[in-house]
Amino acid sequence: MPSPATPAPFAALILAAGQGTRMKSALHKVMHPLGGRPMLGHLLDSIATLSPARIAVVLGSGREQVEPLVRASGGEVVVQAQQLGTGHAVQQAQGLLGDFSGDVLILFGDTPLVTTATMRRMLDRLHAPDAPAIVVVGSRPPDPLAYGRIIADEAGIVARMVEHRDASEQERACTLCNSGLMAVRSEDLWPLLSGLENANDAGEYYLPDIVGLARAVGRVAAVIEADPDEVAGINSRAELAAIEAVWQARSRAEAMAEGAGMAAPETVFLSFDTTLGRDCVIEPYVVFGPGVSVGERARIRAFSHIEGAVIAADAEIGPFARLRPGTEIGEGAKIGNFVEAKKARLGPGAKASHLSYLGDCEVGAAANVGAGTITCNYDGFAKYRTEIGAGAFIGSNSALVAPVAIGAGAIVGAGSVVTSDVAADALVLGRGAQIEKPGWAIRFRAAQAAKKKGA
Ligand code: UD1
Ligand code: MG
Repeated sequence: MPSPATPAPFAALILAAGQGTRMKSALHKVMHPLGGRPMLGHLLDSIATLSPARIAVVLGSGREQVEPLVRASGGEVVVQAQQLGTGHAVQQAQGLLGDFSGDVLILFGDTPLVTTATMRRMLDRLHAPDAPAIVVVGSRPPDPLAYGRIIADEAGIVARMVEHRDASEQERACTLCNSGLMAVRSEDLWPLLSGLENANDAGEYYLPDIVGLARAVGRVAAVIEADPDEVAGINSRAELAAIEAVWQARSRAEAMAEGAGMAAPETVFLSFDTTLGRDCVIEPYVVFGPGVSVGERARIRAFSHIEGAVIAADAEIGPFARLRPGTEIGEGAKIGNFVEAKKARLGPGAKASHLSYLGDCEVGAAANVGAGTITCNYDGFAKYRTEIGAGAFIGSNSALVAPVAIGAGAIVGAGSVVTSDVAADALVLGRGAQIEKPGWAIRFRAAQAAKKKGA
């Protein structure tokens, strides 16, 4: 169905006041992370791309956990003090949206992966020539679980909506499940809601009941169908994990379609904002936390954990590397096995190939940081910076006690503890001088053997 030339303005209304009791968590249900950010964040982001006139989120207990995220996306908060059902939740928004004239798109905070394409289809269906009063979204999941059911004819006109707990055996056999999402014109919504009753098994005001109320006044409700994974509701941790799996699979497929290589994509974990350059290679078992971008042709080797890091083209990371927030890896630079970096900037071609901690430091272009080098950045109270100049060579097992600067091209002898700045191109040795006593071992062994014999 083509989009109307100028889509009507719409308000997005997100229901998120439910207790989320099935999560058994002190964290609000919609704040549980999916792909590295709260599930509500996904929904707010998708909505934003459709430029809604208003965004309102219905919150109840635990709302202080959610409010900052809502406000940051330009949304307004509606409080539903007592959770008397989804219909009651929508009613609470009348004070805020009652004077809004346009479409109201009702979404659920616990159904975060609904796409903008589906949202658009809902609004378009509402404005189709038969002008339904309500558009609901159904899906046919392989296991219909406890979803409410939509009883509709082949043309998608809804006869009845029924909650699972109120449904007969025959109704439960219906495979078209209610996703809960709805589009209704504001001029229809508020009058319909005023007719809701709670004479059902849960004693709640059910939003889907407005379908029956619309029919009673001669209006129709239409259903459109969506992919079951896209409109799956998350009520428990197991359901959250199942949706995480769906999200990860979708994101990996998108990354590969854009040219990222993955030999075992099912073992790679991405975040909502991970960007992977063309021809980069992500080896098995790599975890990307939020805030990571990987440049073209870079290789992230197996079992690396990376968050808040910008990795330039042709760099090589891992295997078994840990990059923490604030890290920037320059072009062609290398971070090898068992290296941890935090707020570390490596210039082009710099290398730290083995067993190092690089914290709060700048490593110049083509510098080489030897195995076991540690930047001692913390004295128990504050953090200090280390600077390593371009082309410097840090010998293995050195401790660089910050604040300290190693000049460009300087060489630090292996095993040094460097406590003050080193000039460019100097050699510095900060370790006990080596003493050698010729033949000493022979004399020692003879003396010890004689002592043992005599004892
Ligand atoms: C709801 C639908 C069901 C549908 C399913 C899809 C109703 C009555 N049932 O059931 O038909 O198959 O979603 O996932 O609509 N909420 C409030 N205030 C309340 C109650 C709920 O804001 O008083 C919010 C929740 O925070 C949640 C959403 O509404 O985001 C849905 O509530 P939930 O309790 O999860 O409903 P389901 O049992 O999943
Ligand atoms: Mg639910």
